[in-house]
Amino acid sequence: MPTADSSSDSTTDPAAMREQYRSEAFTEDSLAADPMRQFARWFRQVAAGGMLHEPNAMVVSTATPEGRPSSRTVLLKTYDERGFVFFTNYGSRKGRELTANPYASLLFPWHPLARQVIVTGTAFRVPREETVAYFRTRPHGSQLGAWASDQSTVIGSREELTHRYEDLAARYPEGEKVPAPPHWGGFRVVPDAIEFWQGHENRLHDRLRYVREAGDAGWRVERLCP
Ligand SMILES: Cc1cc2nc3c(=O)[nH]c(=O)nc-3n(C[C@H](O)[C@H](O)[C@H](O)COP(=O)(O)O)c2cc1C
Repeated sequence: MPTADSSSDSTTDPAAMREQYRSEAFTEDSLAADPMRQFARWFRQVAAGGMLHEPNAMVVSTATPEGRPSSRTVLLKTYDERGFVFFTNYGSRKGRELTANPYASLLFPWHPLARQVIVTGTAFRVPREETVAYFRTRPHGSQLGAWASDQSTVIGSREELTHRYEDLAARYPEGEKVPAPPHWGGFRVVPDAIEFWQGHENRLHDRLRYVREAGDAGWRVERLCP
């Protein structure tokens, strides 16, 4: 559907864009015993390969209790056997949605490796000490930014935002300890399923999904049609 601003040649027409994914087979017997170990394996490969600008960038989807979804990119800050942690403003749209409805999806779009990981699970606020410890590691400017921005609210102008930032910078000059804002902190998404997707030729992709067994009885692995 070309318009005055778009042309339909094969470099710019999305319908004509077609990648052939060439990669090693990804089989059940090559999987780690649990999904967090499998995630660690892929994450290290992606990060070490240097092919992605921010390999820890992930798309977090949330939904209202009525089921209206919303998505945005955030940065993964830690992961371990307990789950995946990111930090944000608890009053933001995602913060409010997760408070009302804790179910979340995380998607890691690792396109240069023809890989994708999708996590579904439940989000819990991390303990305050964990937020404060992470906040301390952030650069001074980012600490002030967390105070300056009422994330997801409407603001009249960029100047308003920079004025708020400058007021805070005057109150807390470089070197001065900035307290962690009470409305800011981490969410840990505890997975109930993690799907690992590896692209292949002819759209015969591998999709291997770990699903948590009821009663915390380990994980079962299932293969999904691509
Ligand atoms: C690469 C990238 C990384 C981001 N990382 C974060 C993050 O770690 N935490 C965060 O709150 N917002 C982050 N953002 C901004 C969010 O995408 C989003 O604009 C913001 O959190 C407000 O989302 P909401 O209104 O849906 O709650 C990032 C954006 C990009 C593009």
